[in-house]
Amino acid sequence: MNEFSDGAKRASERVIGQEEASNAPAAPRKKLFIRSYGCQMNAYDAQRMSDLLAPAGFDATQSLDDADLVILNTCHIREKAAEKIFSELGKVRAVKRARRAAGLATKIVVAGCVAQAEGAEIIRRQSAVDIVVGPQNYHRLPALLRRAEAAVDTEFPLEDKFDHLLSPTPSKIKARGVCAFVTVQEGCDKFCTFCVVPYTRGAEYSRPVAKILAEVEALAAGGVKEITLLGQNVNAYHGAGPDGRTWSLAQLCVRLAEVPGIVRLRYTTSHPSDMDDELVAAHRDLPALMPYLHLPVQAGSDAVLAAMRRKHGRDKYLEVVTKIRMARPDIALSSDFIVGFPGESERDFEATLDLVNEVGFASAFSFQYSPRPGTPGADFPDQVDAEVKRERLARLQGLLETQRRAFHQAMIGKTVAVLFKKKGPPSRSNCR
Ligand code: SAH
Ligand code: SF4
Ligand code: F3S
Repeated sequence: MNEFSDGAKRASERVIGQEEASNAPAAPRKKLFIRSYGCQMNAYDAQRMSDLLAPAGFDATQSLDDADLVILNTCHIREKAAEKIFSELGKVRAVKRARRAAGLATKIVVAGCVAQAEGAEIIRRQSAVDIVVGPQNYHRLPALLRRAEAAVDTEFPLEDKFDHLLSPTPSKIKARGVCAFVTVQEGCDKFCTFCVVPYTRGAEYSRPVAKILAEVEALAAGGVKEITLLGQNVNAYHGAGPDGRTWSLAQLCVRLAEVPGIVRLRYTTSHPSDMDDELVAAHRDLPALMPYLHLPVQAGSDAVLAAMRRKHGRDKYLEVVTKIRMARPDIALSSDFIVGFPGESERDFEATLDLVNEVGFASAFSFQYSPRPGTPGADFPDQVDAEVKRERLARLQGLLETQRRAFHQAMIGKTVAVLFKKKGPPSRSNCR
């Protein structure tokens, strides 16, 4: 996996549209093209934007050239992810110009975390952009689109965006397949010194259980079998329960597993310091909880973890791993790593390799540290040389790749239940 290895899961670009276009009403009035970058929460948001704009007359398209409305749902996590948006905008502007020459109007919206972080600066850098809308404000898109002038909406709103989102139609649910994302928690109060998320997504917030339950029931009625509960700190979930108490993620999982039709539950992303015994026990007791846990550690050295302000040390992480493996011996663990955080010495880095060797991961995402404006880490004095970061990343990824292969190898001969997500393209065979 390379630095863009989050491509598979996070920094992937997801074009919402192909499967939905087939369900479009007979005479679509306008076409919407959404491209989503970054994490699964952005992918979820992109679907919700699509749902929100359907009654406003927008039907999804996969073709940028046909789009009356283009939304780039952006990610600010690393510099490369954020800068990519401006090159994408250059391409979208060219399409807008060509369409204008053909007498067609195009609106360009920048949504997501770059929108939140850069606000009006985006329109200054790329004047073809019409609307900049933050991740907590996109429920206002239909109103923003009715305005003639350019608009920037990134103030954290007082109202809850989830109260204003629209459910997908049953046919849309069906077209999206048997696996669905449901955001249950947003924002983060942890302020790791490398991370933009607390600034782009705002304070930690948990949705009430009743609303999540209603969403999951609707998805199940539409044929969904597997739900992935999403949150920047999903295991810090503490939502208002129907009994007037605060529910934990474990309680939520137990309740959702009772929804008829839901056979699989996953959740991501978890923080090691929020991995409590109740949630560990749920992995033992709840068959619907899949034997998979994404538990980012970032680094193996206590000094680096402290500088990152991670709120967990190496031992705490290893303790959680031991507990979860006792509860669910077949669990597949994955993680995120950052190499070359300011002050990371060769010895610190070796402690990361050491931790990887001690745990054994089924998969992982690893990145060179990218200083992000406005985060404390960007101003730390002892930044690591680019060449050193590259070299460390290559070593770490070599080790992680060996472990990934070992995990797959160990599955040979085992019988496991599988869920078919969708038909593969007929031309591509998985047999080699
Ligand atoms: N909430 C999750 C992480 C969300 S960001 C958690 O606490 O673990 C996803 C991943 O991006 C992080 O786990 C981290 O490995 C990586 N990341 C975040 N900021 C980064 C930066 N400035 N440079 C490099 N990688 C970064
Ligand atoms: Fe970012 Fe840390 Fe919050 Fe995760 S826990 S979203 S890495 S600040
Ligand atoms: Fe990126 Fe924002 Fe997700 S910065 S990783 S899209 S929370």
